[in-house]
Amino acid sequence: MSSGKLNTTLVSAGRKSAYCKGSVNSVIQRASSIVFDSVEQKKVATKHRGERELFYGRRGTLTHFAFQDAMTELEGGAGCVLYPCGAAAIANSILSFVKTGDHVLMTGGAYEPTQAFCNTILADMGISTTYYDPMNGAEIGTLVKPETSVVFLESPSSITMEVPDIPAIVKAVRAVNPEVVIMIDNTWAAGILFKALEHDIDISIQAGTKYIVGHSDAMIGTAVANGRTWERLRERSYLMGQMVDADTAYMASRGLRTLGVRLKQHQENSIAVAQWLSARPEVARVNHPALPESAGHENYQRDFSGSCGLFSFVLKERLTEEQVANYLDNFTHFSMAYSWGGYESLVLANQPEDLNAIRPVGPVDFSGTLVRLHIGLEDVEDLIADLEAGFERLK
Ligand SMILES: Cc1ncc(COP(=O)(O)O)c(C=O)c1O
Repeated sequence: MSSGKLNTTLVSAGRKSAYCKGSVNSVIQRASSIVFDSVEQKKVATKHRGERELFYGRRGTLTHFAFQDAMTELEGGAGCVLYPCGAAAIANSILSFVKTGDHVLMTGGAYEPTQAFCNTILADMGISTTYYDPMNGAEIGTLVKPETSVVFLESPSSITMEVPDIPAIVKAVRAVNPEVVIMIDNTWAAGILFKALEHDIDISIQAGTKYIVGHSDAMIGTAVANGRTWERLRERSYLMGQMVDADTAYMASRGLRTLGVRLKQHQENSIAVAQWLSARPEVARVNHPALPESAGHENYQRDFSGSCGLFSFVLKERLTEEQVANYLDNFTHFSMAYSWGGYESLVLANQPEDLNAIRPVGPVDFSGTLVRLHIGLEDVEDLIADLEAGFERLK
């Protein structure tokens, strides 16, 4: 991970004295009611309620403003909307830019609940979704319709980890219709490894639940928008009641301060484990964007400044259900959990047919069991020994 001036930004962003009141990090201001001293003050607050002016709890307090400023600076946007979790950030960002009769282009490699949101809630609203093959980059231009209002990206793809050619996708969409709102689930990059807005993407969405909070103990979503989408995203999300409590916003801004060093270690550990796995006879393929054998590695090298701890590998064999249970139930350092991005290592397994069921386009071109790992901050030798014992259990 190349840092540039990133760590200085992570340490200093959003720490204006108005938010910190003499402490190093922001104050925790819990409020529903904001009290005005005069009619004039109430008038000013009402006029500027979308611009960091204390107005009413749902518009945010000093704690929220501090975190929003930090995310906006980090991702280079015009503003940041906060949500109670990543899924809410995704759903409300899309909902802010669609109406009945519209069309959404969704990556076929999207996080499964994002697909389910399109297939159920958007479908019920009369908004159609076409899934595109994320590895077929520029061909997306042929799928853009006059009624396409949103193009949604995710990189790398969920679970199978391919890295699409995002500049080619964005260029092809803009060539057909420059007005389409392009958004990305940018959670893998944790707000720092891929600079979405610099790639002409309008909105960068994070499940801050993962690396930003970083300790697996709180949930939050963020969406940083560029100048042309910010006001509409902010106002529509507000109308849909989107906000998070001050304590969680505080935990997220606290998490930012150590994000750089944590990610550096997640990257170092995950590459070491991925390289070890790639030399194992049981492994058919390692899906880690930083490894040359991983799909879209050249896009990763060009567009990303580093990687995090989440990747997957495919076994040569399809394990039986008994083998899966024996493999997963007996690790010492890896636990089973759906989330990721905390300091601890995690493991999950998927059979190819399970993945096929959530891959509307793009073939699942393997027949062995896929194992997804989140590599935490433990000593890497302990993690490798644990994985080696796992392979022994498969014999
Ligand atoms: C890529 C990705 N996006 C979004 C989410 C949703 O985040 P949250 O659990 O905070 O709703 C997840 C959660 O696992 C995820 O992996």
